[in-house]
Amino acid sequence: MKIIEYNNFKIRPLAGAMGAEILDVDLKNISDDTFKEIYKAFVDYQVIGILDQDLNSDQYLEFGRKWGEIHHYPYMKGLETHPEILEIVKTEKDTYAFGNVWHSDGSFTEIPPKATMLYAQELPPAGGDTLFANMYQAYDTLSDQMKEILGSLRGLYVGDQPLKLGNFTGAKSMKQQDPGKTKVHTYHPIIRTHPDSKNKALYIGGHAVEIEGMTKEESTPILNYLKSHSTRPEFICRLKWSPGTIAIWDNRCTQHYAVDDYAGFRRRMHRITIIGEEAPY
Ligand code: SIN
Repeated sequence: MKIIEYNNFKIRPLAGAMGAEILDVDLKNISDDTFKEIYKAFVDYQVIGILDQDLNSDQYLEFGRKWGEIHHYPYMKGLETHPEILEIVKTEKDTYAFGNVWHSDGSFTEIPPKATMLYAQELPPAGGDTLFANMYQAYDTLSDQMKEILGSLRGLYVGDQPLKLGNFTGAKSMKQQDPGKTKVHTYHPIIRTHPDSKNKALYIGGHAVEIEGMTKEESTPILNYLKSHSTRPEFICRLKWSPGTIAIWDNRCTQHYAVDDYAGFRRRMHRITIIGEEAPY
């Protein structure tokens, strides 16, 4: 893949649809100008993998805070020392891989995260990649008629545990918690406009279960169609993790899927999510 020169680093696109790797940056020590360019790459490519990082949790969190306020995931406790960092782990014995369904992170929360960052700590010898899908393309390739219908609709987005997306029964190593009073179901527009790119994106995924004002019988086939359309191979890139990669993706215009193809091996990642904007988008 062709290398693209930015002012402060080089970029290697991951696929035609979206995604890029950033080479030659040390996040321990970045100027405001480099941060602005990383943000530009994030808007341009929707997911970026910054290679070869060596940050401790303080430094990782400091980088995370540059992106905005931390979003709290209601179903899991963070690290003892850094509660803002969630450890996503699948051990040799676990049978459940967190994120093994197409989704946009935290879409069931009232103010969902705009960005997620994931830092590879331990990787299986092969596999454990993450797939991403471009929700601008998913929107653009709908018919005008469908765009018009969806433009006025809101979906109901429900949290991991009611949907059994993240009931963690096979992931004993993850630190679960009861969401308590945190609301884990909410309505959002199915089409949203990105505040930076100004492009429209389909906001859909495993958490979307109903369309407001429709019966389940009416909304299920529409949602099933949108879920299948939005993850067509043409819209996808595949991020292959290496030790030290920090990926950052934009939940407002992507979905992702953690590929569970490494049974018997261990994968451990550190996740930070950054709160987004309130509707209307
Ligand atoms: C997630 O869904 O946030 C985790 C993705 C991954 O582990 O690859």
